[in-house]
Amino acid sequence: MEKKIRILTGDRPTGKLHIGHYLGSLKNRVDLQNSGKYDQYIEIADVQALTDNFENPEKVRNNVREVVKDYLSIGIDPNKTTIFLQSMIPEIAELTVFYSNLVTISRLERNPTVKSELAQKKDVFKGSITYGFLGYPVSQAADITCFEGEIVPVGDDQEPMIEQCREIVRKFNSIYGETLVEPKTYLSKATRVKGLDGNDKMGKSLGNAIYLSDTPDDIRKKVMQAVTDPGRIKKDDPGNPDICMVYYYHKLFTNEEKVKEINSECKEGKRGCVSCKKELAETIIEYLKPFREKRAYYDEHPEEIDKIIKEGTERARIVARETMKKVKKAMKLDYFE
Ligand code: TRP
Ligand code: SF4
Repeated sequence: MEKKIRILTGDRPTGKLHIGHYLGSLKNRVDLQNSGKYDQYIEIADVQALTDNFENPEKVRNNVREVVKDYLSIGIDPNKTTIFLQSMIPEIAELTVFYSNLVTISRLERNPTVKSELAQKKDVFKGSITYGFLGYPVSQAADITCFEGEIVPVGDDQEPMIEQCREIVRKFNSIYGETLVEPKTYLSKATRVKGLDGNDKMGKSLGNAIYLSDTPDDIRKKVMQAVTDPGRIKKDDPGNPDICMVYYYHKLFTNEEKVKEINSECKEGKRGCVSCKKELAETIIEYLKPFREKRAYYDEHPEEIDKIIKEGTERARIVARETMKKVKKAMKLDYFE
């Protein structure tokens, strides 16, 4: 059989996944999986999640199964994609220690993603960054290389992580000999989805996200609170759809023809915001229907979630052990082989 290209991605289990995650990266993973061309691994990065949640271990723990349920509900198929738990692969931690000699502190301090996260997480680090958080790009390099990930499909915020991983791989291979696989980034044509309140990022503020696990009523309530053209008071006031979040979501979920109709009706003052919102809510509810049905199945079979995580992690561990063997041999740590 022809060897498939290995894809490696991951998520920190720190919260439920929303439609922004879906359009941004999850849908892409389902498409890659179903193309049949790739051997896809998805890491539940619980150890990485602890780097900025070390005081909230229960938050990380509680989200592990939820995130897996989110994956399964959207069509990640555990027979085609290996889902595994980072903390159950000790080889990743081992590799992280080995790689730490190949990275300087100043290089880590220059990583733009670490920098911007630190600026956002002042409440966690209080001006003083931990060794673990500063070093998480090293641990992420271990995540990728442990499984010989060739392609890492991520959004642009993760590009610096992949670049740093590539540097580590090149340095390792130049010192210890060709051992590690250098990953390519594959920038997904990700749509960055704004929040219902117009915030640049979904999930940034309370109530501005539609979660994959939301009920139809949750969705209706949230959509009713979405920000519209504030200049419109009466139904027949001409509106400006380009400054309306409801229109913005219609463009993501409603068919093109209907979107054109909404646009002109709004501009001509022939469309009420309330009915416009109701239509949007029903469209999103319909879009998420197959996901809700799959989720309902797993809600009733929680033991299957655990089985999927355990079996995926066992499969991943076999690959990790192989990589560790090669790495130890290259580093002359294979004393009794
Ligand atoms: N850092 C990624 C994020 O915050 C999650 C992640 C962990 C990851 N390990 C990875 C992504 C390996 C790609 C490859 O979203
Ligand atoms: Fe937005 Fe629709 Fe109201 Fe126009 S009619 S402002 S598109 S909610």
